Amino acid sequence: MKRTVLTMLSICACSMGFNAVAQTSTQLAAEDHPWWQRAVFYEIYPRSFADSNGDGVGDLKGIASKLDYLKNLGVDAIWITPCFPSPQVDFGYDVSDYENIDPMYGTLADFDELAREAEKRSIRIILDLVVNHTSDQHKWFLDSKSSRTSEHRDWYIWRDGRGPGQPPNNWVSTFGGSAWKLDPATGQYYYHYFYPEQPDLNWRNPAVRGAMFDVTRWWYKRGVSGFRLDAVDTLFEDPELHDNPIAHPGTNAFGDPFEENKYNTKLPEVHDVLQGLRKIADEYGAVLIGETWTADVHELNHYYGADHNELQLPMDFLFTTVNKLSAADFRKQIAEVNTASGWPTFVISNHDIVRSYDRYGDGEHNDQIAKLMAVLYLTLRGTPILYYGEEIGMKTTPPARVEDVKDPIGRKGWPKEKGRDGERTPMQWDRSKNAGFTTGTPWLPVSPTYKTHNVAAESKDPNSVLQFYKQVLKLRHTNQALLYGTYTAINEDDPNVLSYLRVYNGQGVVVVLNMSNVPRNVTLPLKANGFSSARNLISTGVAAPRAGKLSLPAFGAFIGELCVKSAPTARQ
Ligand code: NOJ
Repeated sequence: MKRTVLTMLSICACSMGFNAVAQTSTQLAAEDHPWWQRAVFYEIYPRSFADSNGDGVGDLKGIASKLDYLKNLGVDAIWITPCFPSPQVDFGYDVSDYENIDPMYGTLADFDELAREAEKRSIRIILDLVVNHTSDQHKWFLDSKSSRTSEHRDWYIWRDGRGPGQPPNNWVSTFGGSAWKLDPATGQYYYHYFYPEQPDLNWRNPAVRGAMFDVTRWWYKRGVSGFRLDAVDTLFEDPELHDNPIAHPGTNAFGDPFEENKYNTKLPEVHDVLQGLRKIADEYGAVLIGETWTADVHELNHYYGADHNELQLPMDFLFTTVNKLSAADFRKQIAEVNTASGWPTFVISNHDIVRSYDRYGDGEHNDQIAKLMAVLYLTLRGTPILYYGEEIGMKTTPPARVEDVKDPIGRKGWPKEKGRDGERTPMQWDRSKNAGFTTGTPWLPVSPTYKTHNVAAESKDPNSVLQFYKQVLKLRHTNQALLYGTYTAINEDDPNVLSYLRVYNGQGVVVVLNMSNVPRNVTLPLKANGFSSARNLISTGVAAPRAGKLSLPAFGAFIGELCVKSAPTARQ
């Protein structure tokens, strides 16, 4: 005799929230999302990543030797900061030849080998294009400087002084001092937004545009999948050279006035250049990432382009300006970038700013907080860019004495500005001498934390920051809600716990982050969002919620899969 049993499945079906179902038609199919929306990017500062030849400086062969590590971590694309020939005044951001590799890092053959090995592992390579300036040793500048009538004179910004010993205007370099340097031989000043060894290119000259565009083609043909564009907002200057207004009284770490960079940054002409670069990138299916420091999301929007024809991934640095672990501040930031006209790009650290480990760490629960931050930027709607060492909880270790500083701005601005050495210390691979980074003398001292925070030790410890990163990255790669889902903030009034839903075609994930140093209880509005419960996917000491109630320890993080009880089904 046939028995018909009506049963309510109590095991989570974990699919199709009611509200979520309605979204199906409006969301893109997974395969329609471009590769750079699915990818996890990883920034490598090549000097500091892995040294293959014992000279104390990392190199391309070193990077190649770590590709398996990166693959295993869950990295899809590596962004290598400039590895082109350079006098290294700004550690590579002063390029003297855009179509070669600095001998310190290897050869073009090493690059090709790295590209081949990366491709075998489906890891893409992104290079760093320094578009605003070259090195003063670049052949274009050497020629430009050689005479007022040289072929390349107009490739840079040359002007007469205002009067004897007076630069053309009041602009100051962001790295200290006047932004103008007198060339006594030709009697004119050239403009440099950064160091004097980094003269600004004249992007109003079509020849400059053509040459730089060709550089991108040259590398695309060699297999790179895109560029991170350096300092895009400084490409153009007011041709009339109006003085910048003084923003407020006082002087900065270099003793310069606080200027509002009204006439030498963020000029609208940059968009035409970005559109040109994007056209070429599109021919190669490549991505353009921007170093886009913006005041607000409105400014950020400009970089996507009015017709989505500029940068695919302008970095949201506003996120890094949240200077304390505050649920309310992060919620506000995320909400803002969610209104952006394009796909968000999240970074929490890079080679120019204090690492997130120190920005948000309280000195006692830093590893726990590092895990919390990992959940945050790896589960948001957008592309994350990890900075090397974040995944093992690397600490910023600035030099203690001015005589040890390598970064010129640190020498110039000491002690107010200690430079950026602290966030560029060598990657910590193991407990051996120099953390396994080099057999020689490292160009910067290894952080003393390498004994506890290194890849080898953390690979063996199931509770390490590294293992946690691996878990979250694995989930991110396989969970479509995390990859493509909508972002909805929940419990928005909670000042301590940041929580949100990610929902894609009925599949849902809830993320709950206790950003305070005491345990917190929250009630998740699951029903209101069409779900009945949440199943623990990844958490730091948090049990799955019961009846929507969740208890989080201090700095606890929870990622749960949202479930909906199936409608009664007939089982026969
Ligand atoms: C931004 C880079 O990230 C920084 O390291 C560099 O010093 C400046 N641009 C100048 O290229």
